[in-house]
Amino acid sequence: MFDTMTLTKVTGAVCGSLLVYLFISWAGESIYGGGAESHGGEEVAQAYSIPVEDAAPADGAAAEGPAWAEVFAAADPAAGEKVFKKCAACHKVDGSNGTGPHLNGVVGRARGAVEGFAYSEGMASIHDPWTPELLEVFLLNPKADVKGTKMGFAGLPNIKDRADVIAYLATMK
Ligand code: HEC
Repeated sequence: MFDTMTLTKVTGAVCGSLLVYLFISWAGESIYGGGAESHGGEEVAQAYSIPVEDAAPADGAAAEGPAWAEVFAAADPAAGEKVFKKCAACHKVDGSNGTGPHLNGVVGRARGAVEGFAYSEGMASIHDPWTPELLEVFLLNPKADVKGTKMGFAGLPNIKDRADVIAYLATMK
């Protein structure tokens, strides 16, 4: 039977469990440090002090501009020669082409300008010379930089690897 008494009992049960739930979440908050509202503006510093301090100089896209000049100024061509092993399957630095065009003299050379190499349309349609900065953008993510590029290489995510390998290429005339 569905009378007032049943309704009252059901309502009581629902309210009771809500109260229990509220109590548990309140207890949990006070044990585990609570949400943002209980600590005002302090919670970020308290909960994340270590990652936040380290976040600024990370190798992120936002830090790329100012960081690049510094990293490239300190680049090490000898370390770059080791990084170049990742490229050597396709690129030579002796003036002959492999799967990719030869890369000796590439710094300062016009894009897609090696005679006799069949570049992709995307690469051949851009004519500005390769500066260290443009190489850096290309090597970070070749496919994003040059649409439809034939270079089957995922990129060098580490900014120091990019700086070193470009410094190495700059020594290969
Ligand atoms: C799997 C083969 C492969 C690997 C590995 C590879 N490349 Fe390439 N690369 C190519 C090909 C193919 C092209 C021509 C791209 C096009 O025409 O779109 C190219 C083009 C380039 C160009 C443009 C050259 C020009 O004449 O304009 C540069 C610079 C370059 N690669 C640098 C590198 C560097 C540095 C690495 C290593 C970090 C690397 N590549 C790794 C295959 C590769």
